[in-house]
Amino acid sequence: MAGYKANQIEAGRAPLETALRQDHWWLEPVLVVGSLTLFSIYALWRAWEGAYFSGLQALQSGASWAPAYLSPFYSPPVHEWFPHLAASMHISPAFFVLLFPLSFRATCYHCRRSYYRAFFLDPPACAMAEPCAQRRKAYTGESAFPFILQNLHRYALYAILVVVVFHFLHLYDACFVVHKDGSRHFGIGVGTLIFALDTALLSLYVFSCHSWRHLIGGGLNRMSAAPIRSMIWTVVSSLNTRHGLYFWLSLVTVGIADAYVRMVASGAITDFRII
Ligand code: FES
Repeated sequence: MAGYKANQIEAGRAPLETALRQDHWWLEPVLVVGSLTLFSIYALWRAWEGAYFSGLQALQSGASWAPAYLSPFYSPPVHEWFPHLAASMHISPAFFVLLFPLSFRATCYHCRRSYYRAFFLDPPACAMAEPCAQRRKAYTGESAFPFILQNLHRYALYAILVVVVFHFLHLYDACFVVHKDGSRHFGIGVGTLIFALDTALLSLYVFSCHSWRHLIGGGLNRMSAAPIRSMIWTVVSSLNTRHGLYFWLSLVTVGIADAYVRMVASGAITDFRII
């Protein structure tokens, strides 16, 4: 125990025992493990399924009209750009698309904090001892493979900006229905509102990113020399204080948006029209 405490002090950490905290510190790690595991299983299953990702597929099951919804798991529409690529590789096009949000979210500073704590217990919460602290001597942080790859986050940001643009394009498409004769008419359905919420939350998540904040104002020595960047930086900094909240909310809405498109495309429900 003496050696263990010495290691903790050496590492600059408070030598607290697990039992010292009497609050529900374990709740956050449990929720993180549960929600990330559930979402990963759902996303994998949907990508593997490779079907029911477009609201227009409802036309094939006899509907006289269908909303022009596209699941966010299939946006950008790689399946339209390279229709034979996924088929020739016997792989769902969703796997190509999911690489972008997956690399962005997996390297997100907030997400890293959450899964380092929840999955690696490193540490499990603030002021908590690490169960495997004796292995700390071999700990290289994010300076060696594989965690050095976390430093690619800024490049994942560039890729996700493209995804955000396509979210807006597909939100526009979601404002139309297509009839069996091919005509297209304006109309707002429940799905449109879900897509609008998903797009808004994804935008808040991306534009509150720490790397984005650095890109906007991190390189400035004097804020007064660049008043417009300084103003944007102030807004981004304000959004950044709720970055973790946007991470979780946007994760929930992207799952709901995909599930809704699946239900409409498979004919399980008919999209409720508002306009
Ligand atoms: Fe979370 Fe960039 S820090 S997305």
